[in-house]
Amino acid sequence: MELTREEQAILDGESGEGAQKAIELVVALGRIYGAEGLVDITSAHLSGASYKTIGDGGLQYLEDMVRSGSKVKVPSTLNPIGMDMKRWKEMHIPPEFAERQLRIVSLYRSMGVKTTCSCTPYTGDNVPRFGDHVAWAESSALSFVNSYIGARTNREGGPGALAAAILGKTANYGLHLDRNRAPTVIIEADIDGSLFQHSLLGQAVGVRIGSRIPYYKGIRPGVEEAKTMAAAMAASGSVAMFHVEGITPEAERYDISELETVHIGRREIEEAREKLNSTDDVELIALGCPHLTDKEMHEIASLLKGKKKKGDTEIWFCTSETVRDRCSEDVKVMEQFGPVIADTCMVVAPIEGTFSRTGTNSCKAANYLPTLCSQRVMCQDITELLKVIQ
Ligand code: F3S
Repeated sequence: MELTREEQAILDGESGEGAQKAIELVVALGRIYGAEGLVDITSAHLSGASYKTIGDGGLQYLEDMVRSGSKVKVPSTLNPIGMDMKRWKEMHIPPEFAERQLRIVSLYRSMGVKTTCSCTPYTGDNVPRFGDHVAWAESSALSFVNSYIGARTNREGGPGALAAAILGKTANYGLHLDRNRAPTVIIEADIDGSLFQHSLLGQAVGVRIGSRIPYYKGIRPGVEEAKTMAAAMAASGSVAMFHVEGITPEAERYDISELETVHIGRREIEEAREKLNSTDDVELIALGCPHLTDKEMHEIASLLKGKKKKGDTEIWFCTSETVRDRCSEDVKVMEQFGPVIADTCMVVAPIEGTFSRTGTNSCKAANYLPTLCSQRVMCQDITELLKVIQ
């Protein structure tokens, strides 16, 4: 792997310990994956932020990074953490968890990371442009920016993305290169246009194709549909990029005439839904995986307007602080039913301490809730879920 003179100097420790550690990790990854060199990045999005998922070992790692003088060189945002930084008490979070979680956030902040803590930073806090090389962790977000925006990132892990952010460079391999962004299978989709059906489509496709790059025909996803599909495909398979005919910016670049075609229709969608459901009675309904956009906030508020909450089932609406601030009128309506929480989500918060049965309209959440949160799951369309509390 070829390094420039400047990169070699960083590797030799001439720019300090923090930069040296960062380049060591980026170069090691590059060697494993056969990169020829490094490439400049314009932004990073970091995961590994919830105390629930990184624990004391992760906290210690971040303390070491800060002690070694590490600072990010490019605009960098942070994925959801284990709680709403301001409203954690409403989420039944133990104080000792909150104290460690806030420490993690302050460590990221002292490295220069913008701690808005959302998995949809591309809606406002961190928006790559077409052709940008970036280093993003968070499987749904990186797939969205690769596919819907045409930025370029591999499926980074938390430490790799942080190292790239500190260096301002990542290893140039995989989805940074044209040749690896070509579709490898055609998906002929036959679904109705609802958000939930797009999530189920992503679920069925991920299971079917693993880590291949699908080229969709038959759908016209907007931002919300694309983000829920991206999330589901990344969770049920490990899809990091997709194309949609007539919609995504690189869809028409590649010759698809020889590709295998897979049909996903009503039967496959129903099978996907059935496999994700393990209860019809829930204690918590959690919406916003990935985090709710402004449009979704307006839609949910209009579904709830004029209605009254019934029963004991709690409801959380998960979004970013940026969107929560922008949608204050919707928030007033939604808060009559449950908290609009920012910075976190139903999967990375320690909900297993309080709940055992959760409803969601996201197949990504439905994949992870049983294993990461010990939940039985109701995975349904939003209108079905909201019937439980109205
Ligand atoms: Fe985001 Fe949490 Fe879902 S990080 S994509 S809301 S599992």
